[in-house]
Amino acid sequence: MSTALLSRDAAVELDASDPLRDFRRRFVIAPDVVYLDGNSLGCLPRATSERLERLVAQWGQRGVRGWDEGWLELPLEVGDRLGSAVLGAAPGQVAIGDSTTVCFYKLVCAALDARPGRRQILTDLDNFPTDRYVLEGVARARGRELVWLRGDPGGGPEPEEVASLIGPETALVTFSHVSYRSAHVADMAAVNAAVGEAGALMLWDLSHSAGSVPLALDADRVDLAVGCTYKYLNGGPGAPAYMYVRRQLQAQLRQPIWGWLGRRDPFQMAPGYEAAEGMTGFLSGTPPVLALAAVDEGVRMVAEAGIDAVRAKGVALTELAIALAGARLAQLGVSVVSPRDPARRGAHVALAHPDARELCADLIATGVIVDFRRPDVIRFGLSPLTTRFVDVWDGVEALRRQLG
Ligand SMILES: Cc1ncc(COP(=O)(O)O)c(C=O)c1O
Repeated sequence: MSTALLSRDAAVELDASDPLRDFRRRFVIAPDVVYLDGNSLGCLPRATSERLERLVAQWGQRGVRGWDEGWLELPLEVGDRLGSAVLGAAPGQVAIGDSTTVCFYKLVCAALDARPGRRQILTDLDNFPTDRYVLEGVARARGRELVWLRGDPGGGPEPEEVASLIGPETALVTFSHVSYRSAHVADMAAVNAAVGEAGALMLWDLSHSAGSVPLALDADRVDLAVGCTYKYLNGGPGAPAYMYVRRQLQAQLRQPIWGWLGRRDPFQMAPGYEAAEGMTGFLSGTPPVLALAAVDEGVRMVAEAGIDAVRAKGVALTELAIALAGARLAQLGVSVVSPRDPARRGAHVALAHPDARELCADLIATGVIVDFRRPDVIRFGLSPLTTRFVDVWDGVEALRRQLG
């Protein structure tokens, strides 16, 4: 990018011609902050406040009758909407409920039970902590061996490395599609092909992908996926996660938490568990209705904007951040960790500096909301529906001043 394109005025002009510029007004965003943490917790859509008010009123007026007036259907109904707008999944393959951690546990156990003769689980050392910890626990409980891919911390799992570590003993392979630290985007189709060829099952964590990069789970022949809804989908703090199970696998897989709402005919209260058909069998307990309504509003907004437009802006924002970091921060000891190729990068940018922890704390104290990731990364999360180009400029400038 030329120097002229790196001025604050140029960033203001980019905002003026941004096709998604009107979306920002539809969120509640404190005027005195530069919010660069939508990759951790997305902003509050105004439509969500209104929906929750209506829902709370329904709770007040209708009480328990609400369950028969649409509440029980929300996990699969919102799941289908998420599938079609964001995941590239045909109806009947997505269910929402529980945290990402619990959804991940359910699908890991289901996958291992479906490959009983195979001992190994493959993941990478840079995978998100909750995924690594769940795998450690399940491997110990079920006598399986965890195989660790030690990749480049500035990148993510590459298909050739993955292929070199799988074989007839591999039951399950699991990675994050977009790395929480580097923002590296894995080659989903190539990894799926290698895993499928080995007869193993593949489980993706899409927490940093959904709502930031286009996904084609059906077309890319994904077996299983989970992800959170509180980042780029703006579902709110603690919003429930989703599970995707490819239709052809649903009858073969049995998740381990046999709750009443995953049973066939739950209100028969009958003895003995029999899994319900389809994605209902992957549910366990009472759905978090208020939180599901909030997820629904976030998903509807991404659907309205269109994931391709969201992706195009995500690329433009990260390109600007990287260009500004090169021009204004490199001489101050800041380096870009995220991949340079936009096709291999999600919607956040990882900047490394030895004093990253203190720098993040100082930035947050001055109203520039970023986050720190061990050991030395400052993450700028650029959420296309809410982040402006001028926010990127102001964030980089604030960091430059801290260092100057
Ligand atoms: C890749 C990934 N997986 C899982 C989680 C969190 O799981 P949970 O929603 O259970 O806290 C996060 C949270 O940031 C994440 O980035």
